[in-house]
Amino acid sequence: MRLIARKPDAVLGLATGSTPLSTYTALVERAHAEALDLSEVRGFALDEYLGLQPGHPESYRAVITREVVEPLGLTAANIHTPDASPETIETAGDAYERAIIAAGGVDLQILGIGTDGHVGFNEPGSSFASLTRVKTLTEQTRRDNARYFESLDAVPMHCITQGLGTIRRARHLVLLAFGAAKAAAIAAAVEGPVTASQPGSVIQLHPHTTVLVDEDAAADLVNADYYRHAWANRPAWQQL
Ligand code: GLP
Repeated sequence: MRLIARKPDAVLGLATGSTPLSTYTALVERAHAEALDLSEVRGFALDEYLGLQPGHPESYRAVITREVVEPLGLTAANIHTPDASPETIETAGDAYERAIIAAGGVDLQILGIGTDGHVGFNEPGSSFASLTRVKTLTEQTRRDNARYFESLDAVPMHCITQGLGTIRRARHLVLLAFGAAKAAAIAAAVEGPVTASQPGSVIQLHPHTTVLVDEDAAADLVNADYYRHAWANRPAWQQL
């Protein structure tokens, strides 16, 4: 909120999935409470499925419209998702990168994490230098996301996603994770070795990352007591 108050046309990096929904709801409430106009806010989604019909309710364009643009009162034309059209897919990654750069880069990137450690749709093995490109989803990710589709077979096999290199360029990363299913991925991201086998560990290479977790998602963190101590004793000026 302070970012948007300071910069009304701030560029947000928008994650899909169930995790950020409570954050988006909180943003709506704060915006209403503070009478903040969000109509100039710009945004770039992390990723998009390939192979869905345009307008499919589970396409991330539709999800972002339904769960972010409409409730927050954003301007649809300011919010971008990677273009998954088959005709232009070979150049869609480059075009997305250029659009992010032309917007001045992402100020605040909201991230969730997959149970296999993916961020965006950067599956294990994704290069830390990778830019927006087409990826193949793991079976674990397809199974995790099957809850949104009629069957596992209906879950797309491919996607276009911002790369870990794209994500690293954002000025501030906010990684969200809730629930026990995310505990291993969070421990690997926060405390594990920096390795492409755990894409979430890219956060350790970023100068400004905030990790917000509940107790269940934090359960495997070895240094949890220190993080609580640091949070309890955070300097007055240190806010999100
Ligand atoms: C999805 C998205 C990610 C998201 C992750 C976790 O497949 N591509 O951006 O962070 O998987 O999803 P959820 O928050 O529903 O657990």
